[in-house]
Amino acid sequence: MTESPATPTPELDTEALRQRALAALLTARERTTLLTDSVDDHELAAQHSPLMSPLVWDLAHIGNQEELWLLRGVAGREAIRPEIDGLYDAFEHPRASRPSLPLLPPAEARSYAAEVRGRALDVLESTALIGDRPLVEAGFAFGMIAQHEQQHDETMLITHQLRSGPAVLTAPEPPRPTDAASLPAEVMVPGGPFTMGTSTEPWALDNERPAHVREVPGFFIDTAPVTCGAYERFIEDGGYTDQRWWAPEGWAMVREHRLTAPQFWHRDGGQWLRRRFGVTEPVPADEPVLHVSWYEADAYARWAGRRLPTEAEWEKAARDDPASGRSRRYPWGDEDPSPERANLGQRHLRPAPAGAYPAGRSPLGVGQLIGDVWEWTSSDFLPYPGFSAFPYREYSEVFFGPAHKVLRGGSFAVDTVACRGTFRNWDLPVRRQIFSGFRTARDI
Ligand code: AVJ
Ligand code: FE
Repeated sequence: MTESPATPTPELDTEALRQRALAALLTARERTTLLTDSVDDHELAAQHSPLMSPLVWDLAHIGNQEELWLLRGVAGREAIRPEIDGLYDAFEHPRASRPSLPLLPPAEARSYAAEVRGRALDVLESTALIGDRPLVEAGFAFGMIAQHEQQHDETMLITHQLRSGPAVLTAPEPPRPTDAASLPAEVMVPGGPFTMGTSTEPWALDNERPAHVREVPGFFIDTAPVTCGAYERFIEDGGYTDQRWWAPEGWAMVREHRLTAPQFWHRDGGQWLRRRFGVTEPVPADEPVLHVSWYEADAYARWAGRRLPTEAEWEKAARDDPASGRSRRYPWGDEDPSPERANLGQRHLRPAPAGAYPAGRSPLGVGQLIGDVWEWTSSDFLPYPGFSAFPYREYSEVFFGPAHKVLRGGSFAVDTVACRGTFRNWDLPVRRQIFSGFRTARDI
């Protein structure tokens, strides 16, 4: 996979913004095409899990959102096919019901998305990206739509992981660590204020705004995500059969679904195996654990005598520069992600072993905050002080509240355009088909 050139920096001029937006849209479509052309039309229209849409729904929904925001929103054009809007409105039809809808068949979904794209590129060509309206300022609407497509590409990759049958996707192995043995297990982050969120990142979404000061007491945090090997020790110690470690709803989930391990793991004799994109392999001990729910992350942390970091702790560890006192865009500084710094963009089909990506570490030495696995935090998904919904309430605002927990940092399946030190993801605490892992923290 190629990757987008990430989000633009505030100082870019109109032409550079246009090039960024164009590259981000093209990169997203290249990935969408890979994910939808790698299975046949029958597989494209099938529902592989009640938790997921048929891939062909994601494809037409991508086109429909692009039409809504770029053709109708930015350019004021008439609807191409107004009768399909309802089908692709995520709020009208829950995922489980989508296969029974009169969805566009694969060939029509492809041509609809392509037609919208052709017109959207004309709109990009002819729109002033500076000093017009908030929706297009610094190319925001185009960046938002590229991020939206990439988010659905991650969703489609989850569907690929859930489907049965032989592997259809391949990728090179991620880099191995070089200095893992000499890494400390945790580092201390000193207490004090830091700037959380952003008011200047041009393509940041509404829930990342505005920048505000948070006072965070000192804490310790793991230098790498929790590995499969460490998680196996929790399992072997009876973690899934000891109610002490579990939040009440988590314990209920373990009992109801008879959980004994992360999703996609099974035991064969004395050994844990896992299925990954159609391939069964021994669970790799040094790889960050993947496909755990918030409840499992929370239980592991309690068993280990630790806890999950709060969202503010995570962001402070990822962005605070002790030398300047300033919050940076990424753990390594303000420069865009690169293949040496982080495992992003579906360049690999798995997280890299703990301790990889030394060039991506924070000044205090915290590694793999960006990429590899989404990291559960202890925090509910809530608005920052001064939040205002933009450009639509259904992106973030309707999800605020105690039902959803925040995940940070992005996974190997996240493109750079949708990954920043400020980027916030959220999900229900029972979810584990997502590319979720975690790291732990403790008070000083
Ligand atoms: C931010 C990943 C929770 O997939 O539900 C896609 C992103 N919003 N289309 C989701 C999103 C609208 C969203 N998450
Ligand atoms: Fe969507």
